[in-house]
Amino acid sequence: MTPADQDRSLRLNRFLARCGYGSRRSVETLITAGRIAIDGEIVHDLGRRVDPLTDRVTVDGEVARLPGEFRIYAFHKPAGVVSTLRAQAGQVALDSFRAEAELPLRFVPVGRLDAATTGLLLWTDDGALAQALLRPARKVWKRYEVAIDQQLVPTAQRRFADGSIELDGRPCLPCRLLPDDPLDGRHWVVELHEGRKRQVRRMFSEVGRRVLTLRRVAFGPVELGRLKAGGFRRLTPQEVAALRTAAGQPQS
Ligand code: URA
Repeated sequence: MTPADQDRSLRLNRFLARCGYGSRRSVETLITAGRIAIDGEIVHDLGRRVDPLTDRVTVDGEVARLPGEFRIYAFHKPAGVVSTLRAQAGQVALDSFRAEAELPLRFVPVGRLDAATTGLLLWTDDGALAQALLRPARKVWKRYEVAIDQQLVPTAQRRFADGSIELDGRPCLPCRLLPDDPLDGRHWVVELHEGRKRQVRRMFSEVGRRVLTLRRVAFGPVELGRLKAGGFRRLTPQEVAALRTAAGQPQS
């Protein structure tokens, strides 16, 4: 190693912790369990140093990257697009937008939206972050603008807030429900920190209302803003830091 390489190199446990795999102490269990490889070779040496520029470190086969090397994009999903990466006949799927934006295949969407739902979908090449954001225990807030077919009565409003709406035999966690247009009673903003299948549509259906349009306008600290339908924008460093904190991966 040249002196410059020496300066850049860091201990494996510090590198893995910076990559978001846990604390310096907890990642040592990954090393001793034989789950870490450098350039294809399993390492057990807790004192091993790595050069982030030249060494290829993998965790269970997945390449570990320092947070700054990953990219995260906000995407505005248009209506009618299915949240899969390969379209069936007659469908438009997300892969065509990824190709149009010239994002490499390693970029994947974080979760899904129904075909009829529009709005914010995050994309990243950081698999650990995507998984952390979707983990129910992280309780990351998602905000939706909803238009429904008829006014909502106060008792129905309370059921969103008190967690008494059940789906699939399990109560939903309490959500925030605020009128978007207090005069007409048919436009609402709902914030939830779960991500069950068709959750917003089914919750309104439980209180006797049909969702006419549904748009996700925020995912944790990231807002859709004025991004045009079908467009991508790279998150700012501030957004990335806030998102990682929401995912329980604060950067050291
Ligand atoms: N809830 C729904 O009903 N659909 C979505 O796409 C997202 C949340």
